[in-house]
Amino acid sequence: MTGQTELSCTASAMVAAGKGILAADESTATMSSRLCAAGVAPTEQNRRAYRELLATTPGLAEGISGVILCDETFRQSTSDGRPFPLALAEIGMLPGIRVDCGARPLAAAPGETVTEGLDGLRERLADYAASGARFAKWRAVIVIGNGKPSARARRANAHALARYAALCQEAGIVPIVEPEVLMDGGHSMAACAEATATTLVSVFGELADAGVELAGIVLKPNMVLPGQACPESASSRQVATATVGTLRGVVPDDVAGIAFLSGGQSPARATENLAAMQRFDLPWPLTFSFGRALVDPALAAWQGKPERVAAGQDALAARVLCNRAALLAA
Ligand code: 13P
Repeated sequence: MTGQTELSCTASAMVAAGKGILAADESTATMSSRLCAAGVAPTEQNRRAYRELLATTPGLAEGISGVILCDETFRQSTSDGRPFPLALAEIGMLPGIRVDCGARPLAAAPGETVTEGLDGLRERLADYAASGARFAKWRAVIVIGNGKPSARARRANAHALARYAALCQEAGIVPIVEPEVLMDGGHSMAACAEATATTLVSVFGELADAGVELAGIVLKPNMVLPGQACPESASSRQVATATVGTLRGVVPDDVAGIAFLSGGQSPARATENLAAMQRFDLPWPLTFSFGRALVDPALAAWQGKPERVAAGQDALAARVLCNRAALLAA
């Protein structure tokens, strides 16, 4: 089908050699709290100005294939009057949109969530596609500890991801499929590997049942890491070996590419781990779709001051350059 060919072309462009995806799609609440933490007033105009700083960083398209926006930014314009999706396309980056409505408590699964947002999604996707969106993102959240993740939470989230992905492809939009196993907790790296593998098995089972074309998706998983509160530490080589070993066993070869989230790792650590994974010979390209590990230094440098926009852009450009080098060094 022509549509599927276009989808796989877009998906391949998202994971093109030396390029990753910038996740700038924090919800209004999350973005506002990050602005507050950086001493910047959490206004709609400041959220817009910050996203403009990121999107218009000189040379960004050399290392960034696409930018994930939230609904607010998607409908805003850059200061020269261009809607963000158009501005991104003109600079040479694919516009993306986060379409989930967030993780909510899952019934009969204490401490676990299911991501909502399927109601009305077909219509929203058609609207986003008409406004220039080329890809979308939906994030499921999986927690480890005290019997979690439960099979119930894995299945509910995998099912929602698959219904989302099928609807995206119907609309001609590439779905980023993001089942994030959180770093929160004192669990071991082995527990993360197990939770990541079982979650991905559920996800690929549901994607197959839903008729999703794997060449037209990008998988966005966590790296396999010890929990943040675990005394065990892991070298980049160990993280790379565990992550690649886990993915190899469960991710079909047809998937267009894998773009990791950073999940709360420091920018340097996320890059080192990404670099260590490039040494493996794998059926899919491995790249980054970092949020915090790309943008935190830019937000800190900007401080909400117009005269510091260039400093913020320099900070983002430096992180993108490091990650691009990590991808190309193999
Ligand atoms: P982090 O890289 O900060 O984890 O964000 C990526 C993302 O898109 C989370 O949904």
